[in-house]
Amino acid sequence: TKDGYAHYMLKEIHEQPIAVANTIADRLFNDAIADDFIGADAREILSQTKQIHIVACGTSYHAGMVARYWLEAITQIPTQVEIASEYRYRKPVIPANTLFLTISQSGETADSLAALRFAKKAGYLATFAVCNVANSTLDRESDECILTHAGPEIGVASTKALTTQLAVMALLTLKLAELRDVDIKVRKNLAKQLRTLPGIINQSLLLNNQIKVFAEQIVQRDHALFLGRGVHYPIALEGALKLKEISYIHAEGYPAGELKHGPLALVDDKMPVIAVCPNDELLEKLESNIEEVRARGGELYVFVDHKSQHGLKDRVPYLIEMEASGSFTSPIVFNVPLQLLSYHVAVLRGTDVDQPRNLAKSVTVE
Ligand code: M6R
Repeated sequence: TKDGYAHYMLKEIHEQPIAVANTIADRLFNDAIADDFIGADAREILSQTKQIHIVACGTSYHAGMVARYWLEAITQIPTQVEIASEYRYRKPVIPANTLFLTISQSGETADSLAALRFAKKAGYLATFAVCNVANSTLDRESDECILTHAGPEIGVASTKALTTQLAVMALLTLKLAELRDVDIKVRKNLAKQLRTLPGIINQSLLLNNQIKVFAEQIVQRDHALFLGRGVHYPIALEGALKLKEISYIHAEGYPAGELKHGPLALVDDKMPVIAVCPNDELLEKLESNIEEVRARGGELYVFVDHKSQHGLKDRVPYLIEMEASGSFTSPIVFNVPLQLLSYHVAVLRGTDVDQPRNLAKSVTVE
């Protein structure tokens, strides 16, 4: 049931704090990741891993993209991320000791399963999966499956599934960091960020009324651009996917540094530009990208935290300040208001939010 919410999507957005808490429970202890977090052989496999290939579709692909930033920056393990429908039809080179990892909510996505079946014969170290459905085909056919404990996701638009996939990928990053003896101070800090995540997601849900104000503006437009940089670039892609999927407004996500290489030509006073702008090492760069948009009359909607708001609050008409959450978990937190934004735009447009036209929850055919 929808528990009194107007749509499953809204219910599932609000279930995220508890879904994350369930996903990290019994897995994260102080700064250590439980050994039975994966299967019995996993420790050995992870110790031998020299590269990681992540393969997924749609929103799950975005989870892989975020994880790549974490894995490379924190564990220095070279990581590639690819869309399953592309991966399965090319001839990928697989260096020795490469771990294959699929991410999927349903565990039944045809292209992801085909990629897994290819990978099983291709000489990988092992095949791992991150999946929300126990006993799904992906769970059964992968060597090891780490379950997200999001609970059933009914809305076609993926919300809590992504958030818990990211929580699992954060745990996996921490496990690899532990096995590679990454500085304990760094690991402690990352673990602390993960533990505070449910509370901070809760805070971001309280921004609902402010987000509705953004939605009332954006609903009048036919296009939207989403910008982010670094680990927040995949969050911009996800924001755009969500908006087009449920509101049918054309939207594109861009790494903000690419603006001048083409999309800036689209910007005028009818183009809403939504930017994810936390205080991180790329803040200054993103600020100048925002200035480029402002100078062309683009309509700016910016999500900031307490530190990054300083340089922007006088220049940007639509600004929402989020609770700062630390650079590791920040992409997870900044994704939440984008989910709410798409939701409210779709409701105002009167679309079928939980069952958007032409789409299926689980894409079991090619
Ligand atoms: O079940 P999966 O995670 O494998 O599904 C992958 C995509 O079909 C899915 O994430 C899709 O992009 C969502 N509807 C996006 O909200």
